[in-house]
Amino acid sequence: MKASVTVEATTPYEVRVEPALDLETAVSAALSPGTAVLLTDSNVGPLHAPAVTHALERAGWTVADVVTVPAGEPSKSLSVYEGVIRTLARAGLPRSGTLFALGGGVVGDLGGFVASSYMRGVALVQLPTSLLAMVDSSVGGKVGLDLPEGKNLVGAFLQPRLVAANLDWLDTLPSREVSHGLAEVVKMGLLTGGEFFEDLRRNLAAARAKDAQALQALILHSVRAKAAVVTQDEREGGLRAILNYGHTIGHGLEAAAGYDLPHGEAVAAGMLAAARLSHEKSGTDLLEVHEDLLRAAGLPRRVPAVDVESVLVAMGRDKKRRGSDRAGEYRFVLLRDVGYPERDVPVGVDEARRAVGAVLGP
Ligand SMILES: NC(=O)c1ccc[n+]([C@@H]2O[C@H](COP(=O)([O-])OP(=O)(O)OC[C@H]3O[C@@H](n4cnc5c(N)ncnc54)[C@H](O)[C@@H]3O)[C@@H](O)[C@H]2O)c1
Ligand SMILES: [Zn+2]
Repeated sequence: MKASVTVEATTPYEVRVEPALDLETAVSAALSPGTAVLLTDSNVGPLHAPAVTHALERAGWTVADVVTVPAGEPSKSLSVYEGVIRTLARAGLPRSGTLFALGGGVVGDLGGFVASSYMRGVALVQLPTSLLAMVDSSVGGKVGLDLPEGKNLVGAFLQPRLVAANLDWLDTLPSREVSHGLAEVVKMGLLTGGEFFEDLRRNLAAARAKDAQALQALILHSVRAKAAVVTQDEREGGLRAILNYGHTIGHGLEAAAGYDLPHGEAVAAGMLAAARLSHEKSGTDLLEVHEDLLRAAGLPRRVPAVDVESVLVAMGRDKKRRGSDRAGEYRFVLLRDVGYPERDVPVGVDEARRAVGAVLGP
């Protein structure tokens, strides 16, 4: 299988996904060497930053600084952003420089936003080290930060010049994080169908056990599927909304749980709830298909009981809801069948309440 995907954005870029990836060659094929800053987090940096720095230096780059932020979502904040961007200024990263973001989605989103705004924009290379970052956040060009008022409320679109994922980096990723990344893979497979869905069924258990071949196949499928959607809708006008499958209820659950619930687990429950709604709205019964996939991915089928009404309120506040929606109605991405998503399906409050209730509790 071809180990890379070309994302046909306005400026196309390669997403390379390989075990023992030769970073020196991969980077040299995409950019001429210059001054670089490597951004990473406190978990990933000690494990993988030295080898990356050496590869960049071998490729002729000057690594002006390695900036390490604390691991975890709180680093997607204005205060950490300020610290990073001022460090870039002190390190003297020029306008022609490149920011390399080595880490999970947090480092990718933060680094991307830094790159989009430092000196009105420098080049960005995504080096995703979590499965979620490899299959989802490093592709598509959305970058940004959280505010105390809500997640991802500050942001920009910046397409990277290259995404290079070394599958060996996943050796150190905690297995819980593997399952969380697989939630997005399951989502993409259900939305896409076809060969992706067949490979998903075949390879999911092996991917969970970090089998490199299974992971590579599923990551490439996911990247190809996401790339197909985002290149048709680079700045999120409409089609891109299908990527929200399982996320409307998922976001509601996360918010109602005070963000004390991993995103992948919330999305897993959100997809099950969406499968229920899909069936009610005269789609095929895909409940068992969902349950089997989520089990193989090591994901729970239910989330701890939270207040259903808080979930519904939080769903109403989801920024992706359209301003024109009538009160008392939600808009969902549902599945008519595997590979046949339908967006903007109206769902009443009572129907939504039942679907949420069905995935709560022990
Ligand atoms: N931009 C987008 O389109 C997009 C899409 C989906 C999600 N996101 C964002 O991505 C973020 C979540 O990403 P995430 O799940 O990667 O979170 P994360 O970056 O916090 O990584 C999860 C954990 O795994 C650790 N880690 C990562 N790679 C590792 C490795 N190889 N070895 C050991 N530990 C490793 C991290 O230090 C962290 O503790 C959220 O902020 C979300 O909003 C963005
Ligand atoms: Zn998600």
